[in-house]
Amino acid sequence: MHDEELLRVENLRTYFNTPEGVVKAVDGVSFSIGKGETLALVGESGCGKTVTSLSLIRLLPNSAQVEADRVMIDGKESLGFSAEQARALRGKTISMIFQEPMTSLNPVYRIDKQLGEVFRLHEPGISKAEVRERSIAILKKVGVPNPAERLRSYPHELSGGLRQRVMIGISLAPNPKVLIADEPTTALDVTIQAQILELLKSLQKDMGMSILLITHDFGVVSQIAHRVAVMYAGKIVEEGKLEEIFEDPWHPYTKLLILSIPGIKVTRGGRLESIAGAVPNPLRFPEGCRFAPRCPYALDICSKEPPPETVIGDRRVSCYLKGGEAK
Ligand SMILES: Nc1ncnc2c1ncn2[C@@H]1O[C@H](COP(=O)(O)OP(=O)(O)OP(=O)(O)O)[C@@H](O)[C@H]1O
Ligand SMILES: [Mg+2]
Repeated sequence: MHDEELLRVENLRTYFNTPEGVVKAVDGVSFSIGKGETLALVGESGCGKTVTSLSLIRLLPNSAQVEADRVMIDGKESLGFSAEQARALRGKTISMIFQEPMTSLNPVYRIDKQLGEVFRLHEPGISKAEVRERSIAILKKVGVPNPAERLRSYPHELSGGLRQRVMIGISLAPNPKVLIADEPTTALDVTIQAQILELLKSLQKDMGMSILLITHDFGVVSQIAHRVAVMYAGKIVEEGKLEEIFEDPWHPYTKLLILSIPGIKVTRGGRLESIAGAVPNPLRFPEGCRFAPRCPYALDICSKEPPPETVIGDRRVSCYLKGGEAK
């Protein structure tokens, strides 16, 4: 529990019905985020990070079946919301920066139109002058130079970093309480990436919003997260404070992820340590612990029965070894 909890998700399950069978993309995920807090959701490609966030803002195709015991956003149970209610909630309370900045800005419209739409959606009847004033203010806030001029630009006329600032401006325009940032800096070079992370941090301080940061990059995590949840094959396998996770990972998967951070890991034979094997196919998860087939420390029981979740203080881990042997 947090002093003021803005997001609580309990046992979220998002399954896709496909011709090949049921894809259990998210399979029993629980977490919560306090006011002003950043929780990083990390894990390899395909483990269900994006589907988790799309489930929260209810932007999934019809083939998706979303269930949960509870989804509380800013004190409101949002699970049973109609599409209409979900739309109202989106933006105002919870907003998202998407994984691909190029595709989430519409290339055929100028920035003023795209930003203006957000203001008009949340405040129908707002005057043209007011829209312009607020658009300039928000661009200024996200560090876009010459905002009045930039309003007249098309997305392709902006650099990658500026485009991402505009994207952040669009998601923050309705003043959301929770921001989901899905790989917000992956497409950017390292210097710009650091600037964008700094921007998110300062906006968070300023606006007190909570951030769910989705990334596979532990470097990004270390710069901005307060807490870290590690996701593997549709489940959160470990969660704890940033320092705890980095200094003393309990789950072998977390440990191996941290060892694979470039620059941190001592290379063996000049090679980067990476985790052997591949993420299991979500159509056919292995029985028992889903990481067991790749886990160097797996016991017999690991491939037979899913490990129970152990909670100690504000940390939790699902592993028979609690990572202890993995040191
Ligand atoms: N519409 C869909 N229909 C069927 N399967 C889907 C659909 N969308 C996602 N999936 C599957 O769900 C799983 C989780 O995907 P998701 O996009 O959440 O992964 P991710 O952790 O965000 O990966 P990345 O780091 O590459 O962005 C994947 O196996 C993916 O193929
Ligand atoms: Mg993703």
